[in-house]
Amino acid sequence: MAKKKISLVVLISGGGSNLQAIIDAIKNQQLDAEIKTVISNQVTAGGLDRAALADIETHVVDHKQFPDRQTFDRALVNIIDPLRPDLVVLAGFMRILSDGFIDHFHDRLVNIHPSLLPKYKGLNTHQMAIDNHDAVHGASVHYVSHELDSGPIVIQAEVPVLDSDDKNSLASRVLEQEHKIYPMMLQMVADGRLTFDGEQLNLDNKPLHKPLLWKNNKLST
Ligand code: GRF
Repeated sequence: MAKKKISLVVLISGGGSNLQAIIDAIKNQQLDAEIKTVISNQVTAGGLDRAALADIETHVVDHKQFPDRQTFDRALVNIIDPLRPDLVVLAGFMRILSDGFIDHFHDRLVNIHPSLLPKYKGLNTHQMAIDNHDAVHGASVHYVSHELDSGPIVIQAEVPVLDSDDKNSLASRVLEQEHKIYPMMLQMVADGRLTFDGEQLNLDNKPLHKPLLWKNNKLST
C-alpha cells in the first residue's frame, strides 16, 4: 500500500480529547488525514464543539431515539457509508456496537482503550489498576472484533502507576499517552506501513505478532 491521505470518520460520546489530538496532528502535519465527519450519540458531547471549531461536519445520532441497537447502528452506517472512509475511528465512543456494524467495517474499525489489553476491558480501568496494585497501566489502540474491547492490538502505551495516584491522576497521565499513540497509529496506515485485512495485521509487510510498545516517548517492537 502506498502513502496517501486517509479519510476518517470519528465517533465520540464525550469530551473528545482524542478527537482533538487527531485534529491537532492533522493541523501540525504529523498526520496525513482528513476527518470527513464526527458523529456523537450524545448531544452534549464536548467533542462536537471541538469539531465545529475545526470546521468539521458533525452529526448527532441519539441512541435513545432508536428502538434497538441494530436500528441505531444502521443509522450510523447510513451516514458513514456514503463518505467511504478509510477508517472508522472510535474515540471515547461509549456504545457497544452490534455484530452487524463490526462485520460491515471489519477491516477499518479502530478503537482506543485505557488499559493494557487484554487486562481491564470495559469501564473503570484506572481504579482497577490501582486496586490491583499494578506497577504499570496504560492504553491500547486496536482494530475492533466482536468481543468488547478486543481485536488485534497495534500500539500499547505504558504508564507507571505511582503510590500517590488516584484514578483521576492516573487517567490524565494515560490520556496524555493516548493522544500520542492514536495519531501515531493512524499515520502508520497513511504511510502504507500498517495494513489489516480483517484477520492479519502487517507492519512493513511483516505480520505484527505482538503490539508495538510506546514507553518513555519511544516506540519499540
Ligand atoms: C479515553 O480514555 C478513551 O480511551 C476512552 O474514553 C476516554 C475518552 O476520552 N474510551 P476523550 O473523549 O477522547 O477525551
